Amino acid sequence: MEKTWWKEAVGYQIYPRSFKDSNGDGVGDLNGIREKLPYLKAVGIDFIWINPVYESPNVDNGYDISHYQEILAEFGTMANFDQLLEDAHHMGIKVIMDLVINHTSDRHEWFKEAKKSKDSPFRDYYIWRDAEEGKPPSDWQAIFGGSVWEYDEESKQYYFHAFAKEQPDLNWENEQLKKEVFAMISWWLDKGIDGFRIDAISHIKKDAFHLPTDSENVAGRYQNITGIGEYLKELKQVFDRYDIMTVGEASGVTAEEAEDWAGHEGYFDMIFEFEHIGLWKKQKEAQFDIRAFKQALSRWQYALDGKGWNALYMENHDVCRSVSVFGSEVPVYRERSAKALAMMYLFLQGTPFIYQGQEIGMTNMHFSDIDEINALDSKHIYQELVDQGMDKAEALAIVSQTTRDNARTPMQWDDSVYGGFSETKPWLAVNPNTKEINVASQLTDATSVLSFYQQLIRLRKESQALIYGSFEELISDHEQIYAYLRTVVDETFLILVNLSGKAAEYQLTGSLGSKEAVWDLVVSNMEEPDEVSIETDTLAPFEARAYRTTGK
Ligand code: GLC
Ligand code: CA
Repeated sequence: MEKTWWKEAVGYQIYPRSFKDSNGDGVGDLNGIREKLPYLKAVGIDFIWINPVYESPNVDNGYDISHYQEILAEFGTMANFDQLLEDAHHMGIKVIMDLVINHTSDRHEWFKEAKKSKDSPFRDYYIWRDAEEGKPPSDWQAIFGGSVWEYDEESKQYYFHAFAKEQPDLNWENEQLKKEVFAMISWWLDKGIDGFRIDAISHIKKDAFHLPTDSENVAGRYQNITGIGEYLKELKQVFDRYDIMTVGEASGVTAEEAEDWAGHEGYFDMIFEFEHIGLWKKQKEAQFDIRAFKQALSRWQYALDGKGWNALYMENHDVCRSVSVFGSEVPVYRERSAKALAMMYLFLQGTPFIYQGQEIGMTNMHFSDIDEINALDSKHIYQELVDQGMDKAEALAIVSQTTRDNARTPMQWDDSVYGGFSETKPWLAVNPNTKEINVASQLTDATSVLSFYQQLIRLRKESQALIYGSFEELISDHEQIYAYLRTVVDETFLILVNLSGKAAEYQLTGSLGSKEAVWDLVVSNMEEPDEVSIETDTLAPFEARAYRTTGK
């Protein structure tokens, strides 16, 4: 398998608004990130992915860009950015930027010009359609709710938006638009950044608008539509001129298509698949289905083993905290489950991304008032539920459990009132559990979740098997335990993780190498793991172990 820096790297996602406020205005900023580079280095991070910091009216927190080559004043200046890039590089940390090219803000110059008249040269940069018998061209629903069509009174046409109405979609059929987008990409790459996370990229092609509507699966009409590969190949040509890494956000892409998207010759180096993480769920999830979860992860492992590369993640700024969803907030299990989830995914084949706060086991927030929530999609869902007649408290409970603001509460640096994030009241409230869960206390505690992450990252870096090793799942039918092997010629790791809150017995049936193999327990999340035969044993709730053997 071809070796590259990004296959050996561990990434860290920074949501700048919530990471570190350096100037006391309650909003995280670029200088705040710069301040914390030594911390990231200590965690063992090789690159950071920074969520959008470009000029934006912030309807969707920076994902509505009004100027691609300007930094939003709240975050600092371009000089601050250049300084951050320089410092990061100096410390051996690479920098990946967010690339939002499915849509712009409605305040972007292109859209302002496009809106002026049907004859504007910018008109066709966006997607406009006439009304059909006084109604929108289709009844497709936007991802953030409501119609994908917004009516423009002046020109008497509708424009298309997959997300909020303030985020008009770009028209990828327009050659001039593509040229401008590609030039902008090159401008950033020429600056010396190390790659991009490409936002919402599976939405850039839309199905024919006049298809008969079926309200069941409307997002399917503008997600991973046949022919999208043509645009993505053009995009890849731009990327290929640089030595960078690219990771596409690819909702709706299945493991069967993995190679096209993330194979050796794929559109991207890797993608964020959505199968193991249910995004955009409007209702509280039913019980965590461990088998379905294992199946989804393994499907992607097998699909790309030897053929491409995976992006591994358990959290991001759009989903709930993994401890709260897949682990347990119950005090006796909270830290142990955070560690179990860490081992479970950090040792899979692919490049792991850690979302800020995940490395200390941050949890969901438990919002007590709808006004404490900022995310526009969550507010929309709340309103819909209340309009449908649901009791306000019940609607709040649902939204609180599912809102992406759970991941956006400020980073918990210490146990002070604003969590060491800011001197002032932050833009979104700090989780009161910053008293127990914070970086300062975990840095000095060898048994903390943070120390465990550091240990796993170190192990991963030292082992060819954990980076390049093949993947083989064991006891795939097991309802609680995820078990797999990672193997190179002379080294094999066996990972055993109980993903449930109940004790779990197992009996390994797969191939475990030669009988004489000596397996060493190299890491475990329990204080005194019992050394028994590895073929059969019982794992405590959320127990995780990694064994290693060497020799052929
Ligand atoms: C992506 C981003 C999300 C944003 C959306 C629209 O899914 O991760 O935060 O709201 O795209 O840009
Ligand atoms: Ca600030």
